[in-house]
Amino acid sequence: MKTVTILGATGSVGTSTLDLIEREPDRFRVVALTANCDVAKLAAAAIRTRAEFAVVADEGCLPELREALAGTGIRAGGGADAIAEAAASGADWTMGAIVGCAGLKPVMAAIEQGGTVVIANKEPLVSAGDVILAAAKRTGATLLPADSEHNAIFQCFDATRPERVRRIILTCSGGPFRDWTIEQMRGVTLEQAVKHPNWSMGAKISVDSATCMNKGLELIEAARLFPIPHDRIEIVIHPQSVVHSLVDYVDGSVLAQLGPPDMRTPIAHTLAWPDRMATPMAPLDLVGIGRLDFEAPDPVRFPAMRLAREALDAGGARPAILNAANEVAVEAFLKRRICFLEIAAIVEDTLMRYDPAAPDSVDAVLAIDAEARILAGKRVEDCVV
Ligand SMILES: NC(=O)c1ccc[n+]([C@@H]2O[C@H](COP(=O)([O-])OP(=O)(O)OC[C@H]3O[C@@H](n4cnc5c(N)ncnc54)[C@H](OP(=O)(O)O)[C@@H]3O)[C@@H](O)[C@H]2O)c1
Repeated sequence: MKTVTILGATGSVGTSTLDLIEREPDRFRVVALTANCDVAKLAAAAIRTRAEFAVVADEGCLPELREALAGTGIRAGGGADAIAEAAASGADWTMGAIVGCAGLKPVMAAIEQGGTVVIANKEPLVSAGDVILAAAKRTGATLLPADSEHNAIFQCFDATRPERVRRIILTCSGGPFRDWTIEQMRGVTLEQAVKHPNWSMGAKISVDSATCMNKGLELIEAARLFPIPHDRIEIVIHPQSVVHSLVDYVDGSVLAQLGPPDMRTPIAHTLAWPDRMATPMAPLDLVGIGRLDFEAPDPVRFPAMRLAREALDAGGARPAILNAANEVAVEAFLKRRICFLEIAAIVEDTLMRYDPAAPDSVDAVLAIDAEARILAGKRVEDCVV
């Protein structure tokens, strides 16, 4: 019996994780589930899975959660300390599926326990990669990637012979505006931006996919997770989202992982690892798919990938600033306060205005994150929709 905690249990990744866990009640036991403020979904999941502890980050939602769990024997918690307590609940396997840098402290709390910590929540790894990796090394925690691309690389990458890897190739669907001109993208609506052609995901990552910042964040994530020089991580557009990424070896062999565009496959890989477990997905129908296309990314129409590459190469605080500014800009777009093309412009502006020293602790990363948010927020105020 594997004990499991899900941070961000009410989101898209959290829901996919629960789906897998609930199919095998003899194999998994839920310790803690967390959400921000979706009490109804959190309480229902906690009751269904007989979780020990359910937590909302937003303390104002705690009375409602207590009421929803009254008489069930499930403990209710609220606020940042309770989230940290859930993360440090000592589960064998913890899913990090909070969205944004808000997941940094919870992921660090989980790593301090030294179990298996699964990274779906890529933003903390982008902002605080060195700090997170050092903590995992110190505590012996095993980090497993759930992001489909990084999970694919993890499955193909020979970690015992990294010097034999020539390239990592990250695939990118190109998002809903892959074929759009810049002129067309000026008029993008929120509804168009959150409608990903292949994947069903939360609002923030859907917008990141539309700007291709998601691939930029994933480029940095890959550089953190796999021992290979940055300039040997490439991005290729693959509109079908069937080949999730590839590893190119010095002998010319290229290993790829394929699968349906459904997060339950990479999540199941991390849940059962190093074993395998069945998922409800139908076998991949290659004949039905018919063709697999690949094309070069366009850095002019999608500058976010260039900004992320520059931040990765410069290192230090740059990735944290990139991420914080992007979170602010995407939130403003989701609130219909700025236009789609202004997202990358705000990120670029913030990077130009702020250049602090490299952070060496979680608190230093969070201080840089906070300052970058203020600067990006001011830039948002300057935009008129
Ligand atoms: N969706 C995907 O297919 C996918 C694939 C790869 C990687 N990822 C990554 O996984 C992470 C989650 O993505 P998602 O699509 O599942 O997001 P989502 O659907 O928006 O879910 C986010 C989860 O985080 C919780 N949350 C939000 N703000 C919080 C805060 N300040 N403190 C604590 N909890 C908070 C939400 O709770 P409430 O429901 O109460 O708001 C929800 O449980 C992101 O980093 C994303 O980049 C997602």
